[in-house]
Parts: sequence; structure tokens; C-alpha cells
Amino acid sequence: MQEKGRSEEEVRSLLREARRKDLSYASGRILSSMCTSPLEVASRAFCEFLETNLGDPGLFPGTRELEERAVRAIASLLGCVEAKGFIVSGGTEANITALFAAREAAKRSRPEVVVPETAHFSFEKAARMLGLRLVKARVGEDNTVIVEDVERRITRSTVAIVGIAGNTEYGAVDNIPALSEIAQEHGLYLHVDAAFGGFVLPFLKELGFPAREFDFSLGGVCSITVDPHKMGLAPVPSGCILFRDPGYLELLQVESPYLTQPRQCTLLGTRSGASAAAVFAALTFLGKEGYRRVVKRCMETTLYLRDGLRSLGMHVHEPWMNLLVFDHPRRREIAQELRSRGWAISRTRRGEIRLVIMPHVKREHAEKFLSDVEEVAEKLKKSR
Ligand SMILES: Cc1ncc(COP(=O)(O)O)c(C=O)c1O
Repeated sequence: MQEKGRSEEEVRSLLREARRKDLSYASGRILSSMCTSPLEVASRAFCEFLETNLGDPGLFPGTRELEERAVRAIASLLGCVEAKGFIVSGGTEANITALFAAREAAKRSRPEVVVPETAHFSFEKAARMLGLRLVKARVGEDNTVIVEDVERRITRSTVAIVGIAGNTEYGAVDNIPALSEIAQEHGLYLHVDAAFGGFVLPFLKELGFPAREFDFSLGGVCSITVDPHKMGLAPVPSGCILFRDPGYLELLQVESPYLTQPRQCTLLGTRSGASAAAVFAALTFLGKEGYRRVVKRCMETTLYLRDGLRSLGMHVHEPWMNLLVFDHPRRREIAQELRSRGWAISRTRRGEIRLVIMPHVKREHAEKFLSDVEEVAEKLKKSR
């Protein structure tokens, strides 16, 4: 660290310089991320609550109340208003917290968790941290987990099974009703990772799109991960973990002497109240009607891109939600060319091209993307 501080002007100029190197969502060029520009009302709330710390909630009872209200609103959206939980840093922390609770509840000597092979890598982290063996169940052609394979992999050491409502690569929604039945039959904990789908599926259903059941309305679902910093339009970091039975939270408790609450259940100690305030602001500002509108627009753009890509000869997977995966024999070159034209796109593990159609992706961006794909495809044809 330098000896003397610099002027605020200089500091700000250094910050601006760094920021100029970043991509921006507003450019419409980011098609690879599940995050987006947060709502202004949520960003403002975040800034106003910057100094609050929910690790010491007795000092910030107003902020704690906002967290409770945000959690209750999300719980009611997901079919169980009594579910309890926290605003956390994101899907990773939420998934770790869920598996921690499942492990503590089951108390097996060699605990195992059955996850779909499409599970997000946060489960890999959770397993290593918690000493869990991750058992991967196969997925079928539609990229959802084969339910019979999950059941086949259950042993006396299994402490939980996991289903995904909107998997990271394809947006596919596992058959959670069937997993819920299996969990109930075997007396097992079922965690649903709806980090992405949690703010999409409830609205898709209301809009008349096909959408699988995935939430607490299914009796076997014990906990749900849902990320406000993805389709909830809240700033990073904002995740949420919900437990149907508040008893699971007690299993996570440690004593927290010298703080204003005697026990703490979250993985983080000091944790941002700004996230909780921002999530509350986003939920309250948009309401269900606002989120429905956002999801509708994203789906319209997704279907527009699906049709456009198909007409250009791409093989496009039928989208489950606002996530589109397409393929072509020359996909590697297409991806390379699109990147060199400034599009941030990602690839699945199998190599297909993956687009996430977040709210910052507007119709005009989709049109430009299609015209670039067309040009790239033409160029490749000529270079054959
Ligand atoms: C299904 C799913 N679960 C969990 C996560 C992890 O979320 P985060 O990056 O917020 O920790 C992601 C991130 O993309 C995800 O898609």
C-alpha cells in the first residue's frame, strides 16, 4: 500500500478507468450471464443500507424486518408462506447451506448426496467442504435427471437428493414432483436448486407457458435456493435460501456471544443488510405483475431468437425458459467469430452455444445478433 492517500478525484478517475475495461449489460452484448442490470430502486436501496450488518441484527432491527419481509414474499411466491430462511450472497451459499442442514439432520457416518449430473459446480464445492460424497445421476435427452437413476443411487448413506428447476446449461427443469415422491417414500431430504428458475417458472405458468411444478406445493421439497440477483433483478450479491421446516435452521445454529443475537444460523457472520434491503425494494416495486411482464418480454425475445436461429439452419433446443442452446457442425468457428464481433456467449460442456436472454437483451440486440450469425454462417460457407 502506498504511504500517502490520493485525492478523491484521482481515486475516482482510477475507478472509471477500470470500469471502462468492463463489459456492460446495457450494451446488450452479454448473452452469457444469468445476472443483469439491477433495478434502479434496488440499487438505491443497496447504497442506502451499505453500513448495515445483518450478522448483528439487534443493531439493525429495521433492516432485519426488511429481510423477514423479503423472505416471506419469496416464500409465498414459492408455495409456503411459513418457510423460513435468509437473504444470502447467492446460489452457491444457498446450496451449501441446504446441504449443511441435510447433513446435520441425517447424521450418517459417510454421507452422500445424489445430484443430477447437470448440477451447478457449487454442489462440488459444498460436497468438498461438508465431507459429502457427490453421487451423480444421469440425465436424459431432455437434459433433466432420470428419476429412476436417482432412485437407484439411493443408499443407506444418502442424506439428500437434489433437483434443479432451471439448470445452468439448458434451463431444463427436473421432474421435481417425481423426486418429491421418492424423497417422501425414502424419508429423504429433497433440496431444489431454483437459483435461476425461481423467479421465472411461477410467472411462466401464469403466462400460459408449460412450466413444471417445483416448489413447496410439493410435499417432499425441504428447501429451495432462489437467486434475486439473477431474474429477481436485485444487485449482486443477493441469494435466498428457504426451509419449509424452521427446525432445519436450528441445526445450523452456533452461539454468537458478544453480538446482539445469542445464536447465528447463517454461514456468513458479518453479512450485508444492503442485499436484503435491495431485494425487498425489487420485490415491492415490481410485484408479481412486474415480474410477469419481465418474464414475458424475455420469453418473447427468446422465441424470436429461437425462430431466427432455426431459419438460419442452426439446430436449436426447444427452450424451457429464457435460455437458448443451439448447435451447428461448425459451432466452434461460429462461437469464435461471434466473440470476435463483441458478443459474450458461452458454451455448454458438450460444446453447443448457450445464450441467456436476460432483461437487458432487447429486441434490437437480438436482431443484430441474428444478422451477425447470418453473416458468420455465410462467411463459413464460402471458406469451406
Ligand atoms: C442452477 C444454479 N445454481 C446455483 C448457481 C450458483 O449461483 P451463484 O453464482 O449466485 O453463487 C448458479 C449460477 O449460475 C446456477 O445456475
